[in-house]
Amino acid sequence: MPTAKKTAKTAQTKPTRATGFPNFTLTATQPKDMIADALIVNTTPGKGTSVELVAHGFTPAQAKRIATEIEHLGGTGKNGEVIKFASGDGIKAPVLVAVGLGDFRKNFDLEQFRRAIGNGVRALSGTKKVAISGGHSPEHVDATVIACALAAYTFTEYKSKPTPTGVGSFAISIAGQITTEMKTALTQAKHVASSIYLARNLINTPPNDLAPAHLVDAAKKALATLPVTVKVWDEKALTAAGCGGILGVGLGSSRPPRLIKMTYAPRGAKAHLSLIGKGITFDTGGISIKPASKMDEMKADMSGSASVIAAMAAIAALGLKVKVTGWVAAAENMPSGTAQRPGDILTTFDGTTVEVLNTDAEGRLVLADAIGMSVLEKPDLIIDIATLTGAQRIALGRRIAGVMSNTDTSRDQVVAASVIAGEEMWGMPLPADLRETLKSETADIANIGDGMAGMLSAGVFLQEFVPETQPWVHIDVAGPAYNDTAPFGYTPKGGTGAGVRTFVQIARELSAG
Ligand code: BES
Ligand code: ZN
Ligand code: ZN
Repeated sequence: MPTAKKTAKTAQTKPTRATGFPNFTLTATQPKDMIADALIVNTTPGKGTSVELVAHGFTPAQAKRIATEIEHLGGTGKNGEVIKFASGDGIKAPVLVAVGLGDFRKNFDLEQFRRAIGNGVRALSGTKKVAISGGHSPEHVDATVIACALAAYTFTEYKSKPTPTGVGSFAISIAGQITTEMKTALTQAKHVASSIYLARNLINTPPNDLAPAHLVDAAKKALATLPVTVKVWDEKALTAAGCGGILGVGLGSSRPPRLIKMTYAPRGAKAHLSLIGKGITFDTGGISIKPASKMDEMKADMSGSASVIAAMAAIAALGLKVKVTGWVAAAENMPSGTAQRPGDILTTFDGTTVEVLNTDAEGRLVLADAIGMSVLEKPDLIIDIATLTGAQRIALGRRIAGVMSNTDTSRDQVVAASVIAGEEMWGMPLPADLRETLKSETADIANIGDGMAGMLSAGVFLQEFVPETQPWVHIDVAGPAYNDTAPFGYTPKGGTGAGVRTFVQIARELSAG
């Protein structure tokens, strides 16, 4: 009975079933001698010749032969290039993958390196063991592990006959001695990358299997073995607390909303960071319903919360000396007979009344409550992350997140951290005059502006809930949270985990004091 079988399968599905995380080893064996199914080497445009190998351990004759081979195949070493061919004499791995770094001698940055490796790894999906010529510093090890792991990610949970499309294991060849710092870099990078797997799995999980209560289960499960406490507000507790924003958005769904608070408070914490994630497990738009086309992608409207849960896991696993409070405002935005209506007025946690002129501008409503709660703790910095506006994608495209803040220093701090982390973010203003456009005839504020500068006006709305003296940053990841086009570098299609590495970087900086 196919129907019964289907039901049983849905019931068994768990949102956090781990997609296989590859195995990683460091080795002093030279790349050419490594036993593997394929070997990844870097290339760069040569001086005089058109392409040059950037890898250790090859004899000059071998390096020349390989470079000539790459040239014959049209390779130039430019960034983004991937050339796959049979290795030939003296190289144990049967397949070579040459990935172009571009002219790294002129301007080398680690992100260029990560993307080059990511392109190579994606060309090897389904390969059991990949060898990689991995550089000579802890930074290289970190970049290599992050790129390999993130590029090897697959989501096959819902395929009845999953074909292995990831990579089973990576062996990274180190030029010179393997130091303790390199081993530490490997362990730490694995923590960060596996937390990004968690975020991506949550984002990619279909919305029938990921309602607000599932998000709670996922957070509890992910943090169970870590020194993080989890507190949950169900609909009753939300009512008692006065979280009218989260409740209002959740009204239309048969699956009630939740607020999650995760606390990591290690001994000797140097600062207190609060992270708040938009957790709309599905955004139909509500009564102000969205068009059908691409509505399925609104399963990713909980990406901000996935990044916050993942960052909590990574920061706690790394044992960073910073107190981190993570908040997830989770609701499903559905149209129904019980849904909130355009024209409704709700009261948020801090007592602000909001006229809901468009039920599709729901993210800011749930965030208003979570921000309101988080400011009571007076943390050193609050960062919220949300797939908040379509306007963000129009302004900055699919890959770059918009960063807004009530202080230029905090905004610049987050953007600078994103550069180090290898995530693309760009500072945007919060023009004070936009507050005018959010005026409501009947309530303190309306939830939409006049249609101009939609990303900024959402930011100005959120600012309403932050005291002037409280440093706060808002990250709109509507574009980068979910890759709806072709994979690139180490970014697959679907959920990306955008924000996690920036959060870890900020926590590292705060932990260093
Ligand atoms: N979740 C959407 C924003 C979004 C759109 C994210 C596309 C990712 C891809 C958000 O809740 C929304 O619908 N915002 C509205 C706000 C508008 C009604 C002021 C929008 O951007 O259209
Ligand atoms: Zn919406
Ligand atoms: Zn939304």
